[in-house]
Amino acid sequence: MPPTSVQSSGLKCQKALQAAESVATVLAIATAVPPTEFLQSEYPDFLFRVCDCDAKIALKDKFRRICEKTEIRKRNIFLTEEVLKANPSICFRDAGHSLRERQDIAAVQVPKLAQEAAVKAIKEWGRPKSDITHVVFGTTCGIHMPGADLQFSKLMGLETTVKRVMMYQIGCSGGAAVLRVAKDLAENNKGARVLVVCSEGTALGFVPPNEDKPEELVETALFGDGAVCVIVGADPIPKVDRPLFELLWAGECFVPESDKAVYGDLTEVGMDFHLTRKVPFLISDNIAKLLNQARKIVNNPNWNDMFWAIHGGGPAILRKIETALQLAPHKLAATREVLREYGNVYSGSCLFALDQIRLRSLAMDASTTGESCEYGFLCAFGPGLTMDALLLSSVPTTANFVDETRNYTLNAVLP
Ligand code: CAA
Repeated sequence: MPPTSVQSSGLKCQKALQAAESVATVLAIATAVPPTEFLQSEYPDFLFRVCDCDAKIALKDKFRRICEKTEIRKRNIFLTEEVLKANPSICFRDAGHSLRERQDIAAVQVPKLAQEAAVKAIKEWGRPKSDITHVVFGTTCGIHMPGADLQFSKLMGLETTVKRVMMYQIGCSGGAAVLRVAKDLAENNKGARVLVVCSEGTALGFVPPNEDKPEELVETALFGDGAVCVIVGADPIPKVDRPLFELLWAGECFVPESDKAVYGDLTEVGMDFHLTRKVPFLISDNIAKLLNQARKIVNNPNWNDMFWAIHGGGPAILRKIETALQLAPHKLAATREVLREYGNVYSGSCLFALDQIRLRSLAMDASTTGESCEYGFLCAFGPGLTMDALLLSSVPTTANFVDETRNYTLNAVLP
């Protein structure tokens, strides 16, 4: 078919030359976490000691009970005792300010962690970083101008002409939102290779224990730091690009009348985050409606015949989703593994889970990257209440590049 010409503002555009011919694909995924691991069983002692709250015995007992229910084994967190001692206002609300200190930590840590993940992703991809045409950068940790996208691009030594999209304060649904934006960029710019990053941390949201706000204990027990980088491109070049998943559909919805269910407010003492007990119910009541829009495109497979990379917001959310969709227990194994080993890594969680799924597929000797399921969903939930999702199709595992440095067999992830 000859290219269609469009006359617009006196400029003649060759439309057919701009769009890609295939849907966008995931070409590589890699993750990074800060070096300090906190065992969940030891975190209550740590938190109450550094915040000088050991006298609040009942509150500490409650926090310990919450920690025990999170199904988290450990989290990697940049806010170590050393960092907190160097920035004491973060631990003591009475100081009345700590935004400056939090912003300074985020300004350094967010791009740095992103760089660690991106270096690994580019290695797996196997092409030079000069082939990256776009950056989509998401974080809920900090707000700067210019943003973390620019600092990251400089650290990486990307071309100065790289086209950047910065998505700040995206919350936990952002892991799917960045992929949705990358899909649009890749499919509408022929030859584009998009470096997608979510780099998250607790620097803005860390709060000292407070009897008046028990919901903050839940946040403090759940969130962890981590970055994930995904390379996205359409029209994969045979024997050069090795796709892991195709991105078939992307959608988003907000749940009406859920404004105050989960929201944040940036204040002098950091992110004032509000979380109600309604969240698991709002998600489970609305998830099928969003996903059914996409499921019909691929002839309505059973939910249990699909693979699942879900935002591990907390065990109550996962339990409610399993019940709503009648998922077999092993279907959310990758998501639970991420929650157990890293905590709730904000926007990064669902992408960490996608990485786990392809690692599990290799460890299981599955025929495809989607644990031998042809189609799967990546879903994430965030303030709004917002739900973001992508429909993916997996590809044969043999078509993929196997990075020998990654330990597939020792992942204790199989059901
Ligand atoms: N606020 C305050 N306290 C809470 C609470 C909440 N939202 N949820 C539970 N608790 C308290 C309970 O009252 C209980 O306290 P006591 O021991 O003093 O009675 C304690 O936590 C333990 O509760 P349960 O015994 O009922 O244990 P559980 O099995 O429900 O596990 C939990 C607790 C891990 C917090 C679980 O309820 C959970 O996963 N909740 C969902 C957490 C959540 O909303 N995560 C989303 C974070 S935000 C995000 O990811 C993005 C987004 O927008 C969705």
